[in-house]
Amino acid sequence: MKTYGMLLTGLLLLISTGCAQSGDMSSPTIGPRFHYETSYSQAGIKGETVGWGKQVPLYKEYLNRPKTRLPQPSPTDMSVTKALQERQSVRAFSDEAMSLPQLTRLLLSADGLTQSRGGIARRTAPSAGALYPMEIYVIAADVESLAAGLYHFQVSDSSLELLGEGDFSEAIHEAANTQAAVGDSPVTLILTARFDRVTQKYADRGYRYVYIEAGAVCQNIYLQAVSLGMGTVAVGAFLDDAVNSLLAVDARDEAALLIMPVGFPADRTP
Ligand SMILES: Cc1cc2nc3c(=O)[nH]c(=O)nc-3n(C[C@H](O)[C@H](O)[C@H](O)COP(=O)(O)O)c2cc1C
Repeated sequence: MKTYGMLLTGLLLLISTGCAQSGDMSSPTIGPRFHYETSYSQAGIKGETVGWGKQVPLYKEYLNRPKTRLPQPSPTDMSVTKALQERQSVRAFSDEAMSLPQLTRLLLSADGLTQSRGGIARRTAPSAGALYPMEIYVIAADVESLAAGLYHFQVSDSSLELLGEGDFSEAIHEAANTQAAVGDSPVTLILTARFDRVTQKYADRGYRYVYIEAGAVCQNIYLQAVSLGMGTVAVGAFLDDAVNSLLAVDARDEAALLIMPVGFPADRTP
């Protein structure tokens, strides 16, 4: 009787596992299939693997571009607990400019270098395999002592590499599907991911890791903005081609994941 019960349980488990697997594989949409095919089993990753062995540099560098060395960051003293309590999405900003030390604090907190351990320079956000796929671009619209323009945050030496001078507010507003929150703040951060930096080790499962890491960097920016008396919102609904072409990234090895306008909230009481 006991053996019969065990056999039946085993059979049911086999049928249900089989159903779930074939259901996921035959899903008409890519979401369930992606999750299924990047699942680990004892036999390894289920789907096709790509990119093993490709060597991708840890730091993206724009050579021969004017560089702005970031100054000492603004001091902050808000506790993490208080910042978490006060965090909320802010979609309307005042006309107040951001200072360069404040921008520096935001960038260093977002994904800046911390300590070196095991010969690897670590950062503020955790990263699968310490491969650090995130890149941060800065649209400076109103930052004291910094020309308006599009910059790349060079994490390795804490600088901004100038990619284009001028006003990019309208371009990013359009690329963000004309969301009112975007294009009206002193600073807009754009988070991209170098997928190939991670897929070289984790193949397609690396995509999961990259999305998770983007969330960690995003929360770092939210919390640090709060502690500086500022606000932000994570904007995921944007026109991918428009944002990627604004940044001149190829949309395959590197693509935009989030837009984050940052500034002082419009309704802030002094
Ligand atoms: C991945 C992601 C994408 C988001 N995309 C947008 C967006 O495109 N536009 C927007 O106004 N808010 C966006 N948000 C912000 C959410 O709407 C917001 O976090 C949610 O309403 C909770 O409010 P709170 O952040 O104030 O707590 C996004 C948030 C996340 C995490």
